[in-house]
Amino acid sequence: MRYSRTLKEDGPRYLASSAVVLAEVLKILVCTLLVFVENSFNVQAVHQLLKDTVDKPVETLKLAIPAGIYTLQNNLLYVALSNLDAATYQVTYQLKILTTALFSVSMLGKRLDIHQWLSLVCLMAGVALVQWPTKSEGDTVKKILPAGSQFVGLMAVLMACVSSGFAGVYFEKILKETKQSVWLRNIQLGLFSFVFGAIGMIVYDGRRVNQSGMFQGYNTITCLVVVLQALGGLVVAVVIKYADNILKGFATSLSIIVSTLISYFLLEDFNPTGLFFLGAVLVIAATFLYSYEYKPASSSTTEA
Ligand code: C5P
Repeated sequence: MRYSRTLKEDGPRYLASSAVVLAEVLKILVCTLLVFVENSFNVQAVHQLLKDTVDKPVETLKLAIPAGIYTLQNNLLYVALSNLDAATYQVTYQLKILTTALFSVSMLGKRLDIHQWLSLVCLMAGVALVQWPTKSEGDTVKKILPAGSQFVGLMAVLMACVSSGFAGVYFEKILKETKQSVWLRNIQLGLFSFVFGAIGMIVYDGRRVNQSGMFQGYNTITCLVVVLQALGGLVVAVVIKYADNILKGFATSLSIIVSTLISYFLLEDFNPTGLFFLGAVLVIAATFLYSYEYKPASSSTTEA
């Protein structure tokens, strides 16, 4: 995403709001296919599912809440990535593990052991260290990303942390409290997200869409970002369904390492310092400490 936002090319840059909408369309299409696969391409069974959905409008409407929040979050992440380097963004975004834990405790009644709370503190320390500007790094980053822009990026990513925690736990609650398939739920979520995303696009970029169309500035990288966003969303849905939001947080710590490596090789605005590595190690250690004895070794752990 960051690479696609900073790539210098002739002509206008693609509209992030349109990429968010397009990713929703892709998700709806893939989920529709998966609903058919789930029902062995039995058209009548799928028709019955649709009827059930229409008959229970309140159940469907519940999805409007995470959809609205996710749409806001998906747009915020583009703001963050346009104003922060990819690795700082990625590690700071790990604070969502904390918000997710807080929402899991308050909304799902999960209990956390003392070492798990401790790991959350360790996580915050790690994130703070990664953020800590050293003199030389501060100078390098300032040259490329002005302080004001970094502040905007940081605020966007912090807001995204709160929305990620809330929307994820809310979606988990819906999935685990009702019997409907994750793909059907995802279509409902996607439909609302599409509507909210389209409204957002018209409000913020309506004039530019009118001038040069929704797909202005699209290139291969943009399409790749949209596909990755859509597939990533589907993976998140499966993880929330079969594991939980907190376990999802552990998984994303691996992506810090990948993001750091890719950022280092692909983008020139990131020079990891000792503090960055110490912070990243703390974040990853916190993740492992959190998962320690998360569940006693049993078949369900293996499954998860
Ligand atoms: O960072 P976080 O894990 O909160 O990101 C969740 C992402 O997964 C968001 O982009 C959201 O739109 C997407 N998602 C999805 N379908 C779900 C749940 C989340 O596409 N059922």
